[in-house]
Amino acid sequence: MKRKLDSHRVAASDDIEVSTYLELAKELRGEQPVAEPKLPSGERETIIVLDFGSQYSMLIARRVRECQVYCELVPYDTPWEKIAPLNPRGFILSGGPVSVYDSGAPLPLPYIYESRLPVMGICYGMMAIVHQLGGQVVRGVKHEYGHTMLHISDEGCPLFAGLPSSLPVWMSHGDQIVELPPGFKTLAYSENSPFAVIGSNSGIYGLQFHPEVVHTAHGKMIFQNFIFRICGCQGNWTPANFISESIDKIKKRVGEGRVVCALSGGVDSAVAATLIYRAIGNKLTCIFINSGLLRRHEPERVLNTFKRNLKMDVVYVDATDRFLERLKGVSEPEEKRRLIGNEFIRVFEEEAATLGKIEFLAQGTLYPDVIESTSAETKAAVKIKSHHNVGGLPAKMNFTLIEPLRYLFKDEVRQVGLALNLPEEMIWRQPFPGPGLAIRIIGEVTREKLEILRAADWILMSEIKKAGLYRQLWQSFAILTDVRSVGVMGDYRTYGYLMAIRAVTSEDAMTADWARLPHDLLARISDRVVNEVPNINRVVYDITSKPPATIEWE
Ligand code: XMP
Repeated sequence: MKRKLDSHRVAASDDIEVSTYLELAKELRGEQPVAEPKLPSGERETIIVLDFGSQYSMLIARRVRECQVYCELVPYDTPWEKIAPLNPRGFILSGGPVSVYDSGAPLPLPYIYESRLPVMGICYGMMAIVHQLGGQVVRGVKHEYGHTMLHISDEGCPLFAGLPSSLPVWMSHGDQIVELPPGFKTLAYSENSPFAVIGSNSGIYGLQFHPEVVHTAHGKMIFQNFIFRICGCQGNWTPANFISESIDKIKKRVGEGRVVCALSGGVDSAVAATLIYRAIGNKLTCIFINSGLLRRHEPERVLNTFKRNLKMDVVYVDATDRFLERLKGVSEPEEKRRLIGNEFIRVFEEEAATLGKIEFLAQGTLYPDVIESTSAETKAAVKIKSHHNVGGLPAKMNFTLIEPLRYLFKDEVRQVGLALNLPEEMIWRQPFPGPGLAIRIIGEVTREKLEILRAADWILMSEIKKAGLYRQLWQSFAILTDVRSVGVMGDYRTYGYLMAIRAVTSEDAMTADWARLPHDLLARISDRVVNEVPNINRVVYDITSKPPATIEWE
């Protein structure tokens, strides 16, 4: 007989029959044997991360991918019809900002349990499991934030294989479990959490701490244990597999059609173009627009890489004059961004029109952009800057989009680039914004200022590379401010520009820390810039993190 069991506990789905919970509860109490999971038959194994709104959700997905297992981060209420084709092998429930006992708190849908696939709930995800399966969660008397020692009480648990019996973990929670659901037991504890890790014999686990953050020692091992030992994944998400799958897909999709791709000089558009070229050869045309806002030697470098190394024909457009004409007299940052973005589209449209009939437009969109644009539909986000991506041309252009990197993180794009034999200097190039040097010149952009900034930026970059720090930094660059100050050189008075050095470390540009560059390196950059670049007589170092500052100055 089916009846509703605690259906109020299933968010936004009052009418869902939760008879499964009854079945599952019997299994958990040992009243009937544990059902076999319904394993998918497809080739690509996937771990599904359900997003309950944690700031670390994307990090969980990255950690899984680092284990060479494909993973998708989806909203917590994604229906089973969308999940099933992905061939899930297990679920991870993320943390989240609310409490499970708050009214309207988001909760997993029944298929999480119905599928009998392994589940690992992290922080809020753990509370959701306890709440739904018959345990009890209350507001904690003591909140736990930061480092704490975890002590393993069940050393035979596969989740802990290869781990020491005590390890530092990162906690961040205010709620606490006072009663476990039937069939669950404690697997590890901490000073303030008697239920720091719990588990059932049907492969459902809950972790009070965050294994995804770097502060949790052995966090990667916990993911590996869950993914390989508990979910039984093989780890076949490799660059080589990705490349062959993508090439097949692109061939099928494009058929006899033609594709156009805008190159920026960065790794994303380069990898996207190379993959497509491998699939369809000369049916791909790449366009490289020189806006006049690029760094020193950048246009030649991009052309050489594509023409010589990859034997790809590239349409080169020098649009410097057009861009600089548009930027005359403009100093407001958003206005600069808007003008450059629009001009870029105009030039691209004109060039594409000369190529005859083209059906597809290739873009180097990455997974974080996809996730962000999905969540932007539901979250009211305040616009900080209007980003212009060289590949990010508007959909209204009447092309069908091809986005071969849309499910990859930046580090995965680099791995794919290496497997495609792209030159290392292109793969490890630091990100460079679409609007280029225009947003690193404060105030009006002129040819003279561009030359000054290029010369200074070249010195900065050479010194950073010489010091062996280029790859460790997310970005390092020079900014030409519109501040002028007085200096003395020899016996002369100077009145020159103030240049700022910006160098940051970051994982994804959402947050960034200013890099602690060695003082002698800063001194060398400063000495060289003031001596070798006319018009700059003072150098400062930007020691602000993001937030509150942003990485670029405009
Ligand atoms: P902010 O300055 O917002 O930058 O902290 C975050 C990251 O994005 C890059 N950036 C851009 N990239 N088009 C791009 O393709 C843009 O309009 C743009 N604006 C900023 C920036 O260099 C940093 O990596």
